[in-house]
Amino acid sequence: MQGVADSFELMGRTPGNVDKFNLAMTELTRLVTPDILRSYDFSGICHLMDVGGGSGELLGAIAQQNRKMRGTVFDLPRCAEAAGKHLRQIGVSDRIEFAAGDFFKSVPAVADAIILKSIIHDWNDARSISILRNCHQSLPDGGKLLLVERLTPETPTATEEDKAHAMSDLNMLRGPGGLERTKKQYRELLNQSGFDLTGVYPAGRFNAMEARPR
Ligand SMILES: C[S@@+](CC[C@H](N)C(=O)[O-])C[C@H]1O[C@@H](n2cnc3c(N)ncnc32)[C@H](O)[C@@H]1O
Repeated sequence: MQGVADSFELMGRTPGNVDKFNLAMTELTRLVTPDILRSYDFSGICHLMDVGGGSGELLGAIAQQNRKMRGTVFDLPRCAEAAGKHLRQIGVSDRIEFAAGDFFKSVPAVADAIILKSIIHDWNDARSISILRNCHQSLPDGGKLLLVERLTPETPTATEEDKAHAMSDLNMLRGPGGLERTKKQYRELLNQSGFDLTGVYPAGRFNAMEARPR
């Protein structure tokens, strides 16, 4: 809703909470990064931008595996220090930079591919489309968009996995107002943002969804 602070803005009013959240996200992402690296071939990408990339955990690992790749971690200014430190520590700061900004306003036009992990599930459809359209604007012809998210089954069952989806769905609703989505819902969201879904690569509990600008 316009004019109302979202939960990320509210979090920013208590820096201690930002640090705790960013640390938790980094730990969660570290757990699934090996699955993501195994599931998708990043080798054809020259410059990858991780939009909402936090402290650079995922992009740093992708850059370590792909030694010629350049990259940009794009996130709110409050992530700059942690990302800079992490990228230096793992030895990729000569190729991977941090850029600060607001993905609802614009994203820099520097990359031939954009990845967003655990970003779109944070937001309702209208806000998601505004992020995705900004990504669309920044990509060149022939560029790629990768969404790394869980996929809700069309017909959920009572398995532990499906219960975890339902809990995450509630958590997103309670937080920034987002939701977990099915593959069909992601396809529609991408279509409305000017993309075609071109592939889905299972990565453990997550999936890498590849899309191309139409
Ligand atoms: C759920 S976390 C995901 C972080 C990372 N992609 C990962 O999976 O570990 C959401 C990220 O979006 C960032 N974010 C929230 N609002 C933003 C905005 N308006 N512009 C840019 N980044 C934003 C947060 O700072 C946070 O790093």
